[in-house]
Amino acid sequence: MKKIAVLTSGGDAPGMNAAIRAAIRWGWEKNYEMFGIYDGFSGLLSSLIKPLSIRDVGGIIHQGGTCLGSSRCPEFHSEEGQKKGISNLQKAGIEGLIVIGGNGSQAGALALHRRGLPVMGIASTIDNDLFGTDISLGVDTALNIALESIDRLRVTASSHHRVMLVEVMGRNSGYLGLMAGIAGGAEVILIPEIKVEPDQVEEQILQCYRQGKRHALVVIAEGAAYPAQRLYEHFHDHKKDLKFDLRVTILGHVQRGGVPSHFDRLLGTRLGVAAMESLDQGKWGNLVGVINGSISLTPLEMAVGKIKELPQEYLKMALVLAK
Ligand code: F6P
Repeated sequence: MKKIAVLTSGGDAPGMNAAIRAAIRWGWEKNYEMFGIYDGFSGLLSSLIKPLSIRDVGGIIHQGGTCLGSSRCPEFHSEEGQKKGISNLQKAGIEGLIVIGGNGSQAGALALHRRGLPVMGIASTIDNDLFGTDISLGVDTALNIALESIDRLRVTASSHHRVMLVEVMGRNSGYLGLMAGIAGGAEVILIPEIKVEPDQVEEQILQCYRQGKRHALVVIAEGAAYPAQRLYEHFHDHKKDLKFDLRVTILGHVQRGGVPSHFDRLLGTRLGVAAMESLDQGKWGNLVGVINGSISLTPLEMAVGKIKELPQEYLKMALVLAK
């Protein structure tokens, strides 16, 4: 194997650049010719494949997003799309691939692996819903951004005796909501994994009022049964008297755009090097992640499509502490 390419796919995550930089530089050090595929799998389908030198990946470790660009590519789910991808890689002489991304992206990596291409996946998604790693690239930064916003919202909520419904990302996973809720000191945490009715939320808010609180922070994961806007409309339509004024903030993509934290820069660097080392040693077809603090390899066959459970320890804490 001589020529290796790296691509980033799906939702960008802070720390992707550190992983690209580490893989490219480690690769050249070991005498591989390194390439970048631009704009994820859709770039692969248009042969956006270019050599990447050691210098090309300079000055990016501190930048959010991905210098390679990313995309969501439904076309790559099809057999024709995957065959075209393999054919474009062959035309460019690429013999190995590193895919940096979340669940959907690793499904693409697995498809290429099943077609015989040496592939490694790097766990990267702010949702932290990938099986085969305790933490994915971008989670730490996204959580810090969410927390900064929650801290600010508490200040204004308290000044005005308000309830703040704050929605964080996470797709179908409550990880970001749970962690941001606990670390942000939320009074109520709503996540998809635990179904809560609006009446229960109302009671929790009224409890805050009875305790003499000046505010109530409700942190909601976007995948919860009642996302922020829906919950707001429910309270509004049913003319609920919550004793506080109600406001909604949906953090959305703000959480993805941040400067990577030191944790994500170091994690990206570790994962980039580990992915290249594994390719070099012939251990392909794996997702690189971190389990109990150490680099771990999980077969893509096992990792893709599995539902990762939320850490029980934090779930228990949230039930007791959020009030
Ligand atoms: O998977 C990462 C994520 O940010 C999810 O939390 C969110 O639901 C989704 O991507 C948003 O996707 P897009 O950037 O395509 O709107």
